Amino acid sequence: DTGLRAAARGTGTKIGTAVDMTALANDAPYAAAVAREFDTVTPENVMKWAEVEPTQGTYNWGPADDLIRFARKNGQAVRGHTLVWHSQNPSWLTEANFTPAQLKALLRKHIFDEVGHFKGKIWAWDVANEVFNEDGTPRDTIWLRALGPGYIADAFRWAHQADPSALLFLNDYNVDWLGPKSDAYYALITSLRAQGVPVQGFGMQGHLGIQYGLPGDVLENVRRFDALGVKTAFTEVDIRMIMPADSTEVQAQAEGFGLLLRACLLVRNCVSYTVWGFTDKYSWVPGVFPTEGSATPFDEQLQPKPAYDTLRETF
Ligand code: XIL
Repeated sequence: DTGLRAAARGTGTKIGTAVDMTALANDAPYAAAVAREFDTVTPENVMKWAEVEPTQGTYNWGPADDLIRFARKNGQAVRGHTLVWHSQNPSWLTEANFTPAQLKALLRKHIFDEVGHFKGKIWAWDVANEVFNEDGTPRDTIWLRALGPGYIADAFRWAHQADPSALLFLNDYNVDWLGPKSDAYYALITSLRAQGVPVQGFGMQGHLGIQYGLPGDVLENVRRFDALGVKTAFTEVDIRMIMPADSTEVQAQAEGFGLLLRACLLVRNCVSYTVWGFTDKYSWVPGVFPTEGSATPFDEQLQPKPAYDTLRETF
């Protein structure tokens, strides 16, 4: 037993991965690696609103239920992802189809239905995802426009009512370092907690690219959230590079994976470190950033890269 799970044992930080459900069903070595290497799993897509309610009123829980079953069999915790977002919403869910009051009722029902369906089976929920712009202003979304800024507090209250035992997280990218966007989360969490809103965690996605540099102040940033008394987590770590990758870039990537993990291990309450896919075989990166790739700790043949060894040694 020499994998990441074994390395993470006793550290207080779980090691996780996003899971591609098509790969899990069809690629046995992939499934074996998910079971062997990770303490926690996050559905890469199948709990998003467009996936669970493609037609209004008709739920499709099947793929997410399959992941819950896999996790239970392998003694893994599940991170639920995600309840309120501007992206991957159903096509029927538009401002043209509904009034603001109807949209509020729909969001409330969505949260009660989804969190209720998985009640007792989700360790932590990404309740609200990507709610700020880079400059720290609220992101202009269907929810902000229809419900106003209070939609975030409402979402957390509803999720907590639907499953009081799940940890409830805010989650975003480009918040691993100090800056206006992470400042906005610091202020929001401070204010929500002062109002008694049940927010228990801050998730830093950790989508990095070595061409942009690595965040040298990540530890300082995680520390200030830790000091607020919330749990923290790295929720979607991957570190991409311009293709083709050379060995210098692959080594810089390994340093980046280690840098974030070390920050996590150095604070009291960084509860998990999740990679957004563990193999380049199924990574979302080349599809979204066409010139980039090689963003995960295993190559396309499911062989470990230097980042894998760095993660194991850093734990
Ligand atoms: C991505 C998935 O990896 C892709 O398969 C999908 O096409 C788009 O979404 N931030 C998030 C994740 O919170 O849900 C996104 O996942 C990646 C960025």
